[in-house]
Amino acid sequence: MAQKKSNGRHSTKSNGKTHPGAGKGNTQLEKFFHDSLKDIYWAEKHLVKALGKMQKAATTNELKSAIEDHIGQTEGHVERLEQVFDLFGKKPQAKKCEAMEGLTKEGESMVEETEEGSMTRDAGIILAAQKVEHYEIATYGTLRQLAVTMGQDQIAEILSQTLEEEKQTDEGLTQIAEHNINWEAEQETVEEEQ
Ligand SMILES: [Fe+2]
Repeated sequence: MAQKKSNGRHSTKSNGKTHPGAGKGNTQLEKFFHDSLKDIYWAEKHLVKALGKMQKAATTNELKSAIEDHIGQTEGHVERLEQVFDLFGKKPQAKKCEAMEGLTKEGESMVEETEEGSMTRDAGIILAAQKVEHYEIATYGTLRQLAVTMGQDQIAEILSQTLEEEKQTDEGLTQIAEHNINWEAEQETVEEEQ
């Protein structure tokens, strides 16, 4: 990993381009990046709690243990963001992320709308979790690219690590769903509604 010394106060140079305004916190892009960091920081912290609820509600041990891993990974993402704030010369700060709140609320309604102990519930939880992953993939992909643009190579490297993990988690959820949960959910019948 390129170890460029960066305390967020230097002009930086990368990809053959110089970034005279970078690192001083005074460009519009830096402010935007900083605000976006606060947003995803809130989102990751909120997700740790929301995943705990999804894990309790899940039917299969397979999904419960996948969510358990995901919680540990998400805690790691929170720590990485704290490193990013530090490299950017800022204190970690969270700002409510409406998107993540909406996505986790949707996860809660998946649980409410499905029967306890059913495979359909697991299929619903997987759907909610994958929507979360796609939101995170989009966010980290964009933030990583912005960091590259600003010449913040070390930050870009950290964000890339998280981005790769989000992609792996998404693929892992697809595999669990396709392995048997979706098939078994397909066999579940609906009770007569009043
Ligand atoms: Fe994450």
